[in-house]
Amino acid sequence: MPSKGAPNMLPNVLPHAGSDHVPVLAEEVRELLAVRPGDTVVDATFGAGGHARVLAQDLAGSGKLVAIDRDPGAKPYFDRFKAGAGVEVRFLRGDFALVLSQLAGNGVKADAVLLDLGISSMQVDRPERGFSYATDAPLDMRMDPSSETTAATIVNTWEERELVTIFRRYGEERYATQIARAIVRTRAERSFTRTGELVDTIKLAIPTPARFGEGHPAKRVFQALRIAVNDELGQLEAALPAALEMLRPGGRLAVISFHSLEDRIVKRFVAAEAKGCTCPPDFPVCVCGKEPTLRSLTRKPVRPGAQETDVNPRAASARLRAAVKV
Ligand SMILES: C[S@@+](CC[C@H](N)C(=O)[O-])C[C@H]1O[C@@H](n2cnc3c(N)ncnc32)[C@H](O)[C@@H]1O
Repeated sequence: MPSKGAPNMLPNVLPHAGSDHVPVLAEEVRELLAVRPGDTVVDATFGAGGHARVLAQDLAGSGKLVAIDRDPGAKPYFDRFKAGAGVEVRFLRGDFALVLSQLAGNGVKADAVLLDLGISSMQVDRPERGFSYATDAPLDMRMDPSSETTAATIVNTWEERELVTIFRRYGEERYATQIARAIVRTRAERSFTRTGELVDTIKLAIPTPARFGEGHPAKRVFQALRIAVNDELGQLEAALPAALEMLRPGGRLAVISFHSLEDRIVKRFVAAEAKGCTCPPDFPVCVCGKEPTLRSLTRKPVRPGAQETDVNPRAASARLRAAVKV
C-alpha cells in the first residue's frame, strides 16, 4: 500500500510483503503511545491495520484493541489482522467523531487513542471510489459509501463562492476563482458525473504554464473536494474531546495529520487542554477553576526522518503530535 502523497494527497502506508503494511511514523507512534500489556488501545483510523499491528504487538497477548473506520473496505483488512492479533479485538464501522463519543458516553475507557488522518491507498487505488485525478471514474470521493454527499453533489450544486472558498482553504489553489467559474459555466449545460470531466474543466480554466507546473493541475481541487465531502476537519474537531474523555489518567493520544489545517486543530486543542483556565486574560485571578487535562508530549510536531522519506517520499508531509491525560 503506498504512503501519503505529495502534501496531503495520498495514503500513508507502503506496500510490504504483499498484504502487509508499513505505517507512517510507526516507531514514533509506538514510543509516544507507550502501550503496555493489559491496555485498551483505540485505533480510530484502522485503514489497512498497519499501526494496529504494531500497537497490538506491544499488548503482548493481553489487552484489547478497538478498531474504527468509516469505510467498509477496511473490514477485510481487520479480519486478517484479527486472525493474528493475539489480543481481544473489535471493529466498529462509523465516523470516528460519533463512535468515539458513543464509546465515551458508554463509559468505555482507553489507555491509547490513535488518529492517522486522511485517506488510505485502498481508497485511492480503487478508481471507482473517485479519489484519484489520474483515472476517469465516478465523481464520488466518499470514505463512507453510504453517506449522502459526493464530490459530484458539491461540484454540481454548491454556489460558486462556496467552491472558491473550499478550493482556497482546503486546497490552497491559486486559481480557485477561475476554476469555480469554469465549473459553474460548464454545469449550466451538463452536470458533472466523472472525475475526467472535472480534470478537463480545471485544465482549461488555469493558465497554460500552470498546467505544466509542479504536480497535477487537479491535485489541489481534488484534495479540497475530498476534505469537504468527508467533513474531515469537522470530524477531527469533534473527535478530539471525545478521545480525551475516553482516556484514563495517564492515557495517551496521538494524531498524525497531513494538512496544516488539521495540524493547527490538534495543536490548539492540546494547548487549550494543557492550559486549563479559560478566564479572559485581564481577570486578576482564575474564576473558572478549569484544570489542565492534557500534557503535550511533542513540543513541536514529529516529522519523518530522511530514512523514512527516502523509502517513502510521500510520507514527507506527516506531522505527529501526542499528549498524555493528566
Ligand atoms: C491514513 S488511513 C489509516 C492507515 C492506517 N493507520 C494503517 O496503518 O493502515 C486513514 C483511514 O481512516 C479512515 N478515516 C478517515 N477519516 C475517518 C473518520 N472521520 N471516521 C472514521 N474513519 C475515518 C479512512 O477511511 C482510512 O481508512
